[in-house]
Amino acid sequence: MRVCVVGSGGREHALAVVLGRTAEVVVTPGNPGIPGSVSTPPEEIDADLFVIGPEQPLVDGLADRLRERGALVYGPGADGAQLEGSKAWMKQILVEAGVATAAHGSFSEVEPALAFLDTMHDLFVVKTDGLAAGKGVVVTELRAEAEDAVRSYLSGEAFGDAGRTLVIEEGLTGPELSVFAICDGTRAVPMSPATDFKRVADGDLGPNTGGMGAYSPVDIATPAIVDQLMADAVEPTLAALTKRGIDYRGTLYAGLMFTPSGPKMLEYNVRFGDPETQVVLPRLESDLAALLADAAAGSLGPGPTFSTDATTTVVCASENYPKSPRTGDVIEGIDAARALDGVDVFCAGVGAGPSGELITAGGRVLNVVGRGPNLAEARRRAYAGVAEISWSGMHYRTDIALEASQRSG
Ligand code: AMP
Ligand code: GLY
Repeated sequence: MRVCVVGSGGREHALAVVLGRTAEVVVTPGNPGIPGSVSTPPEEIDADLFVIGPEQPLVDGLADRLRERGALVYGPGADGAQLEGSKAWMKQILVEAGVATAAHGSFSEVEPALAFLDTMHDLFVVKTDGLAAGKGVVVTELRAEAEDAVRSYLSGEAFGDAGRTLVIEEGLTGPELSVFAICDGTRAVPMSPATDFKRVADGDLGPNTGGMGAYSPVDIATPAIVDQLMADAVEPTLAALTKRGIDYRGTLYAGLMFTPSGPKMLEYNVRFGDPETQVVLPRLESDLAALLADAAAGSLGPGPTFSTDATTTVVCASENYPKSPRTGDVIEGIDAARALDGVDVFCAGVGAGPSGELITAGGRVLNVVGRGPNLAEARRRAYAGVAEISWSGMHYRTDIALEASQRSG
C-alpha cells in the first residue's frame, strides 16, 4: 500500500515511521528531517490512502476534495472538522450528546462576556472559538488577565477572526488525558491513552503551548475508564454527528481532565495529538496502515493492540517559544541521540541551512522519544537523548512524566 501523510511536524514524522512498517510512505510537505518528504501538493499525489495530520487542512476541506477525486482518506470532512474549527459548535455537540464538560458560555460582545466571567471564581478560562495553533487558550487565576484576554480576543487584536467569538469556561483542575478514537463513520476503537504537558515551564508554569512533552500508557487511565469514555462520550458524539448527516471518518481526539468530580471533556480535536502521537504510535503492535485504511473505508475491525512498553517524549523548543520563536539556529546531536538504546528523534520545526545542515524552523523543533520496559526507564532514555542535542536557545521541560514515573516505577 502507498500512503500519503499530509503535514510537516513531529506527529507526521511519527505517522510516517509507523505507517512505514507495513506501507510505502510519502509525506507532503514534510520537512528536511522527515525521510520521504516531497513538495508536491496532496491533490497531485497518487496514493492508496491519505492520512491528514493537522487540523487546518481538515477544517479547510482537504479530505472532501480528495474524496471527490475517489481517494481513500483518513480524516473528517470540513463538516466534522468543525468540532475543532469552532469550540462553540463543539460545546453544542457535547451538550447534545450528553457528555460531561465544563460549564461554559460563548460570546461575541464584551459586556456579556465580562458578566459571565463574574459568575466564575478561582480559575478563569478564555478560549478563541476558532483555530489558534494551540495558543488561543488562557487559563488564569487572575480575573484581570481573563478580562484582558476577552478584550484582545473580541477586538480581533490577538487572534484575528479566530477570536471574535470566544468561549468562557469554568476552570477545572486535575491530570489530563488524551485518547484518540479511530472512527469509521459509525464505529470507533480507542488507541492507548497518553498524557500531554501543555505549559511551557516545569511545574506547569508559564503560558500554554501546543504541548511540551507526553507519555504513554497512563496508569490512571485504566481500560475500564477508557471503555467508559468510549460508551459515555465518543459513541454518543458519533451518533450526534450522524444525526446531523456527518460521516466522521478519522481521529476523534478526546481531551479530558480527571477532576475531583470525575473525568470531564475539555475538548475534541479532529486529528491525532502532537506530541501524544509520538508516544502512542511507537507502542502500537497492530498494522497502522491497515487500521487507518479500514477506518477510511468505513469497515473498522477489532481495536488495535499495544506493547506494554512505556514511552516518554520531551519537546525541544526554540528560543522564545511560544511567544515569538527564533529560527535559523543549527541543530546538533540528532544522530548521537538516535544511537542510544531505546531513543528516537522525530523532527517537527526543522528546516535546512545553506549547506543542508538541519536548522530550527519553528517553535517546537524536535521530539526526543525514550522507550523502555517501564515509564521511569522510558523517561531516563528520553532525557539521555535530549542531553545529546543542542542549539543556541534550546529549552525543554525537565519534569515530563516525572510524577507518573515515581507513581508507577
Ligand atoms: P483546549 O485547546 O481546549 O484543549 O485547551 C488547551 C489546554 O488548556 C488544555 O489542554 C488544558 O491544559 C487547558 N484547559 C482548557 N480548558 C480548561 C478548563 N476548563 N480548565 C482548566 N484548564 C483548561
Ligand atoms: N497536544 C495537544 C494537541 O495536539 O492539541
